[in-house]
Formats: sequence, C-alpha cells, structure tokens
Amino acid sequence: MAVVKRIVLIGPPGCGKGTQAKRIEDATGMIQLSTGDMLRKAVADASPVGLKVKAVMEAGQLVSDEIIIEMVTDRIKAPDCAKGFILDGFPRSIPQAEALGSMLSENGQPLNGAIEIRVPDEFIVERITGRFTCAKCGAGYHEKFQKPVKEGVCDKCGATDFSHRKDDNEETVRTRLSAYHDVTQPIVGFYEKAGLLKVVDGTQNIDQVAASIMKVLETL
Ligand code: AP5
Ligand code: MG
Repeated sequence: MAVVKRIVLIGPPGCGKGTQAKRIEDATGMIQLSTGDMLRKAVADASPVGLKVKAVMEAGQLVSDEIIIEMVTDRIKAPDCAKGFILDGFPRSIPQAEALGSMLSENGQPLNGAIEIRVPDEFIVERITGRFTCAKCGAGYHEKFQKPVKEGVCDKCGATDFSHRKDDNEETVRTRLSAYHDVTQPIVGFYEKAGLLKVVDGTQNIDQVAASIMKVLETL
C-alpha cells in the first residue's frame, strides 16, 4: 500500500519510535527520518557535527536546536522525501517544531499528523536496557520482547554480530527521560492545538502498536 504522508512520531526514549517507523516504512514506502540515527552516523564518521555532539549524546542530553534544525533542513530537501516521511525523534523542542512548520510550508507540503506513542516512565528502563541491534543491517531487537527467531542470528540479514548503544544504560536513560519531560513533551500540546495530534497506547505489544498506528494513518 503506497502512502505519501508526512508524519511525526513523538514519545519518550524506548517508546518504540524506531521500531514503528521501520514498520511504517516497510508497509507504505514512506521513509524513516531518524535524527538519532543521523547523529550516530555523524559520530561514527567523526564528521565535524559528530565531534561536536558525541559527548552530549553519550550523556543523554539533547543536542542544540541549531545543529538539529540545520541537519533536518538539508535532509528534507532530498528527492526521496517526496515519498512521504516519518520523523522519528524530531522535533524534540518547541523551536524545532516551529522550524519544521516553516520548512514544510516553504515546500508547500504540510504535516499530516503527529502521533504520540504514549508509554509511562516505569516501562522505559526495561525497554532500553534490553535493546540490541544487528551490527550489520541495523535491525532492532529486544532480549525479552523482540528476540531473533534463531538466537544470535539476525532475522533480516543472517549476521551474528550485535551492538548496544552507548547511551543505553540505566543512568543515561534517566537523563534522557528528564530531557523528554522538560523539553520535548510540550510539543504534544503544540500539535494538539494545531489539530494534528493522535495518541496511541504504546504499552501494547509491538504488533498491536503497529496496527493502532496504521489505523490512525488511514485517517490522516
Ligand atoms: P534517539 O536515537 O532519537 O533516541 P530516543 O528518543 O532516546 O529514543 P530511542 O531510539 O532510545 O527509542 P525508540 O523510541 O526509537 O524505541 P525503539 O523502537 O528502539 O536519540 C538519541 C540521542 O540523540 C538523544 O538522546 C539526543 O542526544 C540526540 N538527539 C536525537 N534527536 C534529537 C533532536 N531532535 N534534538 C536534540 N537531540 C537529539 O524500542 C526500544 C526497545 O523496546 C527495542 O529493543 C524494541 O525492540 C522494544 N520495543 C519497542 N516497542 C515495544 C513494545 N510495544 N513492546 C515491547 N517492547 C518494545
Ligand atoms: Mg530510536
């Protein structure tokens, strides 16, 4: 089912933004735009942006709005964004939400909706500390909730190496959660006022959350 929409996924660390963005991408052809993935690539490449943000990310704090807005402004101009996109991890502050509005109105392609994946804090530490990723293709797993079919082998590419994110430890998760509540959560009200907000229950299992999101997507 090809769908061309522009949506934002909002929610705390570990709520399932990346997991669900990949599902939507596979189901619709819209593309996942994850600022966290872009920044992790910049760090791995030791690019000028990567060198600036490495310590901030490892501490679980937010990168400056200036860096993020410049990065997304460039990315969103690329031709593949004409397929529609799922913003995963952006915007994460009111200035970022306002900047996104300006970028999209310049293109004449407004946002279709903002979906909050609502998950209470008490679920988050388990979600984050159990996460691991295929080192070759980046497929995401969880040691309890999303195990590979064959233990130690990636379902998607067959690789046997997995990695853990540096910021996926209990202490950093608490910093990331505080940043979410202090700086990011206000964008929920921002999109509610704009009439763009939809909420899904992120405490359901991964398939149920995906089904809830696909239902919402049909209404946007
Ligand atoms: P980012 O990479 O965006 O991290 P995050 O927001 O902390 O979110 P996560 O990627 O940790 O979680 P997720 O919601 O994607 O969950 P996932 O699907 O993996 O950002 C990292 C850092 O970059 C930030 O801290 C900041 O420094 C910087 N940054 C990025 N964007 C920025 C911005 N715009 N402004 C400023 N700074 C920025 O799921 C988690 C685990 O749970 C997985 O193992 C998964 O298998 C499992 N799972 C998923 N859904 C379910 C479910 N329904 N039930 C059970 N398990 C589930
Ligand atoms: Mg993610």
